[in-house]
Amino acid sequence: MAGPPVSLSARDVGSFAYLTVKDRLPQILTKAIDTLHRHKSEFFEKHGEKGLEAEKKAISLLSKLRNELQTDKPIVPLVEKFVDTDLWNQYLEYQQSLLNESNGKPRWFLSPWLFVECYMYRRIHEAVIQSPPIDDFDIFKELKDQNFFESQESIIALCTHLQELMKTIEDLDENQLKNEFFKVLQISLWGNKCDLSLSGGKTISQKINLINSLEDLKPFILVNDMEHLWSLLSNCKKKREKASITRVDIVLDNSGFELVTDLVLADLLLSSKLATEIHFYGKTIPWFVSDTTIHDFNWIIEQLKHSNHKWVSKCGVDWENHIKMGRWVYLDHMFWTLPHEFSAMPQVAPDLYATLQKAHLILFKGDLNYRKLTGDRRWEFTIPFHEALNGFHPAPVCSIRTLKAEVQVGLQPGQGEQLTASVPNWLTIGKYGIFQFDGPL
Ligand code: F6P
Ligand code: MG
Repeated sequence: MAGPPVSLSARDVGSFAYLTVKDRLPQILTKAIDTLHRHKSEFFEKHGEKGLEAEKKAISLLSKLRNELQTDKPIVPLVEKFVDTDLWNQYLEYQQSLLNESNGKPRWFLSPWLFVECYMYRRIHEAVIQSPPIDDFDIFKELKDQNFFESQESIIALCTHLQELMKTIEDLDENQLKNEFFKVLQISLWGNKCDLSLSGGKTISQKINLINSLEDLKPFILVNDMEHLWSLLSNCKKKREKASITRVDIVLDNSGFELVTDLVLADLLLSSKLATEIHFYGKTIPWFVSDTTIHDFNWIIEQLKHSNHKWVSKCGVDWENHIKMGRWVYLDHMFWTLPHEFSAMPQVAPDLYATLQKAHLILFKGDLNYRKLTGDRRWEFTIPFHEALNGFHPAPVCSIRTLKAEVQVGLQPGQGEQLTASVPNWLTIGKYGIFQFDGPL
């Protein structure tokens, strides 16, 4: 059997990977530099002259990085000692070994897109940690928070919907519950439209009331395995003995509106008893502009708690309680911010793999997780998802993702070609979505 196909790369001139490395990544770096500039007086107030020097240093490191990228320089090892530095440098050596025959060096416009893009965010982090005393500054925090504030109307609608539902949840029959479960799943799917790296860091907030738009959006769901999720979890519920648990793990993506939609889903899973425990996984460093860190997670729950809107603040209070009682657990792991595809997890992060194996279901939110699930390769559209996972089967998994990169598997014969004919950029505009499941039922 032939091995997996080649990785997506900026080597393919005109591809989305190419456009990303050429245009989107430098834009993100420019924004990051601008953010540091704008916080100059804040750094000064906090740390005096040392703060100003640190700002200058971080800016010069980022400008150097942008220059390396734009002039397609070889990818250099990380220099600052951090928990994952060795793993990164080993990965770079591995990329180098793939090129040894051609005598080349890993470069921005030559190496796999997934690697160089992850590397850029890791280098941004390196620039910040090399610049004490501002070494805990999250360059993207302001954008993430802005997205949250601009989505207030939708957040109110969502929290109100959830709290109204709570009043009657015990009385719902099977079908009604399934219906509500499908609604929050779809809300969480379309919440993934809100990532900030696709917009080059411009905020795209969620202004429309999603709940009323779900029917209109249904035709844009290209793979819909929601029924599998329902059968799996409702069977767990039926068979569950008293005191035993059903654990759903959510590998989070973006903070802001999307995170709220994920928390709504997590709350419904608990209150409907489809699950008894939820594990969330976030990022340990600022990542792909809008990804959730523990600070974002805590900040959002705190914001909700102090909202003037009674249902919004009720959500905040309930969610804080879930955390206190251990029904919701937030976990960090450096693996999520490494460049490796998920099929490498058993070797690179065996502890994390073992943790995931204890879940009854793992939900992977967002586009980047999908790229890592499938190895970000040039798969044919009809290759089964199971095959593209390349041996990554810790537990039943489901990707909940809007499409923002040129990788999609598990489609019906002809489906991809038809889409290409009618909407040429369907893979990258974030307009289409999938619920793609793999696992025994
Ligand atoms: O730029 C790479 C990319 O994966 C895009 O495809 C997407 O815009 C973004 O990064 C991440 O999206 P998400 O937040 O859904 O993982
Ligand atoms: Mg993201």
